[in-house]
Amino acid sequence: MKRTCLAIILAAGESTRMKSSMSKVLHPVAGRPMIAHVVESLVNASISSAALVLGRDADAVKSAAARNDIELSACLQKERLGTGHAVLAAKDAIAKGYDDILVVFGDTPLLTAAPLLAARQGLADGNDVVVIGFQTADPTGYGRLIVENGALLAIREQKDATEDEKKITYCNGGLMAINGARALELLGKIGNANAKGEYYLTDIVEIVRAEGGKAIAVEAPETELTGCNNRAELAAIEAIWQKRRRHEMMVSGVSMIAPETVFLSFDTQIAQDVLIEPNVVFGPGVTVESGAIIHAFSHLEGAHVSNGATVGPYARLRPGANLGPDSKVGNFCEVKKAEIGAGAKVNHLTYIGDAFVGEKTNIGAGTITCNYDGVNKHITRIGANAFIGSNSSLVAPVSVGDGALVASGSVITEDVPSDAVAFGRARQEIKPGRAKILRERYQAEKAAKKK
Ligand code: UD1
Ligand code: CA
Repeated sequence: MKRTCLAIILAAGESTRMKSSMSKVLHPVAGRPMIAHVVESLVNASISSAALVLGRDADAVKSAAARNDIELSACLQKERLGTGHAVLAAKDAIAKGYDDILVVFGDTPLLTAAPLLAARQGLADGNDVVVIGFQTADPTGYGRLIVENGALLAIREQKDATEDEKKITYCNGGLMAINGARALELLGKIGNANAKGEYYLTDIVEIVRAEGGKAIAVEAPETELTGCNNRAELAAIEAIWQKRRRHEMMVSGVSMIAPETVFLSFDTQIAQDVLIEPNVVFGPGVTVESGAIIHAFSHLEGAHVSNGATVGPYARLRPGANLGPDSKVGNFCEVKKAEIGAGAKVNHLTYIGDAFVGEKTNIGAGTITCNYDGVNKHITRIGANAFIGSNSSLVAPVSVGDGALVASGSVITEDVPSDAVAFGRARQEIKPGRAKILRERYQAEKAAKKK
């Protein structure tokens, strides 16, 4: 689209019903603030300028919304006098002159580019105001769209609606496009003579018509415009978001056995031919390459899983875990800030943190990299084709060379050269017959006590 556009994001609400110490638009959906989802929909609709209308937590909301592919300005709405008043808080930005002004709400994280593009298309077609509406089974609380012969005559807020108007199920989704050349003039005419005593943005429809302008409504799916007022709605929105993203992933070639038990983040990237077993949680920053398997009950965050690698069941990958091709991190293992080389195996009950594990190395059950001395973190380097015996502690900073072997139960505090064997434990002693002697002594002591 050649036309220029300014999006105005209304986010000055008090968020009273969230019962929260922070603005509702900061509450996360799929691991990032709601406001960031709204901004992403703008970017996806190729909109490059937006003005945020803010109230509480202005600085935090501004930084949560910021990204480098859209120019954001912030305006403070000092008093909350209604949506019409809120849009005018962005007066200076509007005055810069844009073809299209698009008003969106900060609390609709399920919004996609499609309704934004449809609204702008309506302006390009010669309308002055385009409202995105939706059909709903329960219109209570929404502004009703009064449409006649394809023209939008008015939006009637719930409190001002007649009984007949209340029966209308076609509602205002809150998303509106306004002819930029007329926006300030029209917005300036909005008054507050209504049941709530608020400046209703929705009055702009009757105002523009009275001046001979054209207004229409365009329908979009209800989910796209779902707003969030309390935490139950937040959870419902999260569920819709998850369902939508899982579906996108499955149709693009990811297998999920029980998709409803898999939780994704906004930026989770999973390639084709990955299998995700039930009950897996992806925190932010995870990429999984083709052919990998994520077994049940695993939790991944800030991790990269290469081609053909397997994770879990019951594995935890923390930020900086980087699993090489065909490597394996098995049950009850935790990996943090560590490279696991191609074909290496970390199979059971192990913690690998701040470490490098070389190709094809085998880490025995119960191995711990002791990376923290209570003050600083230290690095463990393990070469390729090494073998770490079960129940070993590698006290960092320490290194184990290529092909080296660490005896089971060792506490390794000094570097192990390549191809060496390291014993870091007391040698075994055998005392023939001693067990029998001890057993008889203990039995005698017990019998003496009973008397
Ligand atoms: C609004 C619409 C209604 C529509 C509904 C869709 C108006 C008058 N009504 O009603 O037609 O069906 O949304 O959800 O526009 N805000 C501010 N400053 C204000 C007032 C509101 O920033 O002074 C922000 C809120 O934070 C919110 C948005 O604007 O993000 C909508 O405000 P809200 O009070 O929720 O409007 P509704 O009564 O739901
Ligand atoms: Ca609302």
